[in-house]
Amino acid sequence: MTESTLASKPIQTGEHALEGQQQAGATNRLMSIWASVIGKKVVMAVTGAVLFLFVIAHMVGNLKIFSGPVEINAYSRFLREVGWPELGYGQLLWIVRSVLVICVGLHVTAAFQLTLMNWRARPIGYTAKKDIEATWGSRTMRWGGSLLAIFIVFHLLHFTGGVVGFQPGQFEHLAVYQNVVAGFSVWPVALFYIVAMGALCLHLDHGIWSMFQTLGWATVQNTKRLRICSRIAAIVIFIGFISVPISVLAGWVR
Ligand code: HEM
Repeated sequence: MTESTLASKPIQTGEHALEGQQQAGATNRLMSIWASVIGKKVVMAVTGAVLFLFVIAHMVGNLKIFSGPVEINAYSRFLREVGWPELGYGQLLWIVRSVLVICVGLHVTAAFQLTLMNWRARPIGYTAKKDIEATWGSRTMRWGGSLLAIFIVFHLLHFTGGVVGFQPGQFEHLAVYQNVVAGFSVWPVALFYIVAMGALCLHLDHGIWSMFQTLGWATVQNTKRLRICSRIAAIVIFIGFISVPISVLAGWVR
């Protein structure tokens, strides 16, 4: 460093230097938590819990379709107008979208890195793979998770953007009822949604249970109960979501 740059550098007071050290210490601690297996699992559990809450809220919102076009279309408008006048049109929705994007990003990155760490720790693999405690959900976490990621991209292009799965001019912004009926009248699309919801159900069946374990809520006494709770939640969410495409295919919602 030259004399002139040294001269232009502000002299740090003791207080500022201490603040800087504390910030650096906190960042280092966060980075070392993220670098550890347990840290990544906690990140997966916490972001998974946020996404789970969103999924429940979204499923309940979707069920408004059974109350008719006026209710569900008004609900879609409400989601954009909520918080007004403190928040502008659609602002809360953008906040929710940002939180979801961050959660999905962290969840997927942690899952990917944990998989790599797992493979590196056991490069050859077991000669006889004994999935004693493995359930369908636990065995399909990676494949199911990947299918869900593909589903979410398609889903956003479909019902939020209206750029896939519709005839030109068929998709109408905020006309959720008409869009859902038109979207699911294309049976391969409806079938894809039903299969994806199957993957979501399996993912949640194991994911919710894993979250309980990671957060230290599972004990010998409550293991069976927590597993049953996870399964029931996964099945309720599956039925809640698929009831919409099935009702359109069956002509009950049209
Ligand atoms: C049969 C199942 C589902 C149906 C019928 C459905 C329906 C819809 C509809 C109609 C919208 C647009 C709402 C609007 O513009 O007001 C939407 C948006 C969205 N859905 Fe779904 N959804 C389903 C499953 C899922 C699942 C499983 C997830 C996540 C795992 C999900 C995540 C989202 C997201 C992130 C948005 C965008 C919200 C926004 O930013 O506007 N959906 N969904």
